[in-house]
Amino acid sequence: MQLFNLKDHSEAVCFAEAVKRGIGREQGLFFLDRIEPFSPAKLESLLALPLVERSCRVLRHLIGDEVPELEKIIAAAFNFKAPLVKADDNLYALELFHGPTLAFKDFGARFMARVLSAVRGDKHLTILTATSGDTGAAVADAFYGQPGIDVVVLYPKGKISLLQEKLIATLGGNIRAVEIDGTFDECQDLVKRAFDDQDFRLKVGLNSANSINISRLLAQVCYYFEAAAQLSALQRKGLVFSVPCGNFGNITAGLIAKALGLDSRFVISCNANDTVPRYLQSGKWEPRATIATLSNAMDISRPNNWPRVEALVRMMGWQLDDFAFGSLSDDETRTAMRVLHDKTGYVLEPHAAIACKILKDNLRPGETGVFLGTAHPAKFKEIVDATLGIDEPLPPALARRARLESIKTELKPDYDSLKAFMLKELSLV
Ligand SMILES: Cc1ncc(COP(=O)(O)O)c(C=O)c1O
Repeated sequence: MQLFNLKDHSEAVCFAEAVKRGIGREQGLFFLDRIEPFSPAKLESLLALPLVERSCRVLRHLIGDEVPELEKIIAAAFNFKAPLVKADDNLYALELFHGPTLAFKDFGARFMARVLSAVRGDKHLTILTATSGDTGAAVADAFYGQPGIDVVVLYPKGKISLLQEKLIATLGGNIRAVEIDGTFDECQDLVKRAFDDQDFRLKVGLNSANSINISRLLAQVCYYFEAAAQLSALQRKGLVFSVPCGNFGNITAGLIAKALGLDSRFVISCNANDTVPRYLQSGKWEPRATIATLSNAMDISRPNNWPRVEALVRMMGWQLDDFAFGSLSDDETRTAMRVLHDKTGYVLEPHAAIACKILKDNLRPGETGVFLGTAHPAKFKEIVDATLGIDEPLPPALARRARLESIKTELKPDYDSLKAFMLKELSLV
């Protein structure tokens, strides 16, 4: 598999190299410049297979033979289900939250951790990742105890839920939790600065497990096929996915599935951080200051995967006008949660609620809508309970972690402080 730097097309790397580097020169994202679609007959036969077997074929098709024991890696990474659950008339939730940290990120992070272990050789690696909530938890869990790999997770202080923090900060060992006194965008900027610092990057063997890492995206492609596989052939004819978008990694994965031949429309669903919906409406890219919302993992005003979406749209000859899109305020999100719960009893957390409502608003007669359930409602228990008047139970694994003491370090959003902390922690000073 060959991948190109979107900012500097002369930088071309194989998949294993792109996974190790994370990001290319000038902070350019690695991406494919060609996707060979499956034939309709091949696609039908793939959809008849179980998740792991199908995912092996999809990823082998994309990646080729570069990763030793790819099938074993996929079987170990995808060891939980992604059920499609009916939430309303013609509306289904693709529940991606049945993995160990109860979020869709488990797919990408567990796959990446194993791929990286398989291709790193003897080199020590340091994963530096910025999280607006769930990435950090999934990455910490996926890499915990992996020999030769250290992990540093940055998150904005007070802007992720207590449970999200616990999932990041209670592991210890090779996992360091750092709360930054700032916003998610500032955390993300620190990660970008570190990757631009060549000396530091080499010294600590820097790698990112953010959704900028291509391995995470490719893993996520698999569950779009899983959703289609759980629908009837008739329902698949008018398939529409609604994706709750933050950094636009998840929807990029969906669009790769589409490029591979999965016939579907896409709805871009955002909260009040609506840079992309405004761009699609006006043609002007005008990010504003990030606003804190109920759907905090989507509180991103400069989504770093957007260049990949545009590259894919260009490559496939699609139009940005083909996307349906929308954004919801917190009040509208709460209303969406209540309306569906009153009607069908289905419990939505805020991210899924946004995707569900905007999907409903955009669904045409005869279509079947699938919105992505990206986090377990219990991860947003305070909001869910207060909004719906219920007592959403914490799954036992989460309840146990919630009682543990956090081990974390607080830093200002200052690159030199982060660098000094990491060099000390990794015993490199
Ligand atoms: C629960 C949840 N929903 C949606 C998103 C947005 O996904 P993406 O950043 O891939 O657009 C995230 C990202 O962290 C998330 O944690």
